[in-house]
Amino acid sequence: MTTAHSLPPFSNRLPANGLVHIDLGERAYDIHISGQAFTTPKFWQGLPAAATAMVVTNTTIAPLYLQQLTNAIEPHYTRVLSVVLPDGETYKNWQHLQTIFDALLTHQADRKTVLFALGGGVVGDMTGFAAATYMRGVPFVQVPTTLLSQVDSSVGGKTGVNHPLGKNMVGAFYQPVRVVCDLQALQTLPVREMSAGLAEVIKYGPIADMAFFDWLEANMSELRAGNAELLSLAVQRSCEIKSWVVAQDEREAGVRAILNFGHTFGHAIEAGMGYGAWLHGEAVGCGMVMAAHLSHRLGLVNQAYVDRLSALIAAAGLPTSGPVLTNSRGDASADIYLGHMRVDKKAEGGQVKFVLVNSAGQASLAAAEDGVVREVLGATCEV
Ligand code: NAD
Ligand code: GLY
Repeated sequence: MTTAHSLPPFSNRLPANGLVHIDLGERAYDIHISGQAFTTPKFWQGLPAAATAMVVTNTTIAPLYLQQLTNAIEPHYTRVLSVVLPDGETYKNWQHLQTIFDALLTHQADRKTVLFALGGGVVGDMTGFAAATYMRGVPFVQVPTTLLSQVDSSVGGKTGVNHPLGKNMVGAFYQPVRVVCDLQALQTLPVREMSAGLAEVIKYGPIADMAFFDWLEANMSELRAGNAELLSLAVQRSCEIKSWVVAQDEREAGVRAILNFGHTFGHAIEAGMGYGAWLHGEAVGCGMVMAAHLSHRLGLVNQAYVDRLSALIAAAGLPTSGPVLTNSRGDASADIYLGHMRVDKKAEGGQVKFVLVNSAGQASLAAAEDGVVREVLGATCEV
């Protein structure tokens, strides 16, 4: 799979300029990355005019950042409302989407109301879907507070909720009008969540930019330690690459699927272990090691490449070998993996598709024989 426009080369010059533009025609918007976003007035100016703003957040983030965001946006609205959801992936469902609509309707929020998603990917995906559907669509702003949401979920317009039969199965493509990342918020992020976010940062190297991969190798321990200057560059480059991909294929008809490197294996781990046992980023990190092994078996990369990627994933504090999956029927672990992979969104007619990589930093989407996948699972799972 080839990409239409060339990606500007990686510049490791510090400080990063903190601005990424995503070119989507009339749905284009800016991503601002700053250490003081909440106290920088220009990031909150020039949004769609409205009487009402509503911040959607959760019980963990509200005590930390709700007042700061309210202070930042208050000058621009007659009233700033808020709705505080319970924290967790388990609440990313229809029932709690309804809580957002209940709050909007109870306060007679009109069709110009601007929603602000203050939180990680769960809050961002739910708020985006609420914005896509409330009164057939109101504007929304992403204010991501996890590393994962700053480098991935807040950008590109995938919104939605989980269904009991599948993750993210009900949703819409709906772009925010702006993304504002405050890097200071990462200071309160639990260590495990930081590592999970780093998985999505690492992803951008193998699929698009080996110079960025080299830079991540050189700087991983500082990034994990929370070095704000380095993090700003990592977030900026991740957003540049994601924007470059999404601008070519907003609704995932083709190339956007490369953003799912490691996700086919990762989703099988998440589903097979029970959602929440492994964080999404942990499963993706391990899934990337598995996908690199598969790329090796299909002749796209050598063993040294697989070892290098595996070492970087480990350096980010992420698992590099998969769990053995079990079920009540006593099926073999590899069969359980394959069963989960067949319901992956990239599967077509039951045929599993994988994102593969080559050593030049390019990705492609291809099917693989079950036998080869079984070999990969045998080599990468703790048996
Ligand atoms: P999350 O939203 O559950 O946040 C992780 C945890 O960190 C939560 O407990 C949250 O309350 C807490 N938290 C958030 N910010 C904090 C902060 N600054 N300080 C302290 N605690 C903080 O998880 P996530 O990893 O951000 O996102 C995962 C979700 O994103 C999944 O639902 C996944 O499906 C979705 N996702 C969406 C896309 C997309 O393109 N839309 C891409 C990747 C993932
Ligand atoms: N997180 C993958 C995508 O946005 O397409």
